[in-house]
Amino acid sequence: MDNRPIGIFDSGLGGLTAVREMEHLLPHEDLIYFGDTGRVPYGTKGNDTIVRYARQIARFLRGADVKTVLIACNTVSTVAYDEVCEEAAVPVFGVVEPTVSTTIKQSCTGEILVIGTSATVRSRAYEKAIHALYPEAHVQSKACPLFVPLVENDHFGEADPVALLVAHEYLDEYVGKVDTVILGCTHYPILSSAISAVFGQTVTLINSGKEMAILAAKKLAEAKLLSARKEAGKEKFYVSDYTDNFTQLAETLLEHSLAGHVEKTNIEEY
Ligand code: DGL
Repeated sequence: MDNRPIGIFDSGLGGLTAVREMEHLLPHEDLIYFGDTGRVPYGTKGNDTIVRYARQIARFLRGADVKTVLIACNTVSTVAYDEVCEEAAVPVFGVVEPTVSTTIKQSCTGEILVIGTSATVRSRAYEKAIHALYPEAHVQSKACPLFVPLVENDHFGEADPVALLVAHEYLDEYVGKVDTVILGCTHYPILSSAISAVFGQTVTLINSGKEMAILAAKKLAEAKLLSARKEAGKEKFYVSDYTDNFTQLAETLLEHSLAGHVEKTNIEEY
């Protein structure tokens, strides 16, 4: 048993897709979330910058005495996984392995589309991981850099016309050509109604944050690292800039109040 909190991070709101899953899977765990609201987006930045940010956040979470770190960010998982492991000094989970494992089980035709940030697509991490297990798969990749700012600026409602327009612009060329789409950015499940509207119901969307949360919950249970607590776990959210916008959008996404649980921290000190 280990009553220490679980650390989860992303560049902004996207990692809350993993938090939402953890709340359901492990309701007795304390969670510490860090959203780098002052420096989002990561996916359009160079690898050196992404690595530097990732190291700082891992050091911040280590200082918070977390028992494990969930990288709820595809960009960091594909560009700076090893560096996060180095700094965190506790077990670290990334999104690629669990997402690929579920994708391979789901895809009937092997026609797979990976959508993600420019950095994630540039890393080719998903193609490599899929082909290592499923060499016949035909993997296409598409960077969708406008999706993250859409989410961070509250364009994710059911029938948001801007989100729908952008989704069509990026994805129309793949309609009818793939049976499985990896949402290779944790922000993208928040836009799944627009993405589904483009592809229709016959295409399976794989939620990378959710897949990581499922794997992490299983592994923590196997390693006997879950808390002994019987009451609901506590949550604390840290951001690197201005908290109001984050708080309001996070409450919409998590469907509960965050009053008094969001704090700003100076991540450059780490
Ligand atoms: N949500 C993150 C990801 O999964 C980062 C997006 C960004 O900041 O560009 O890649």
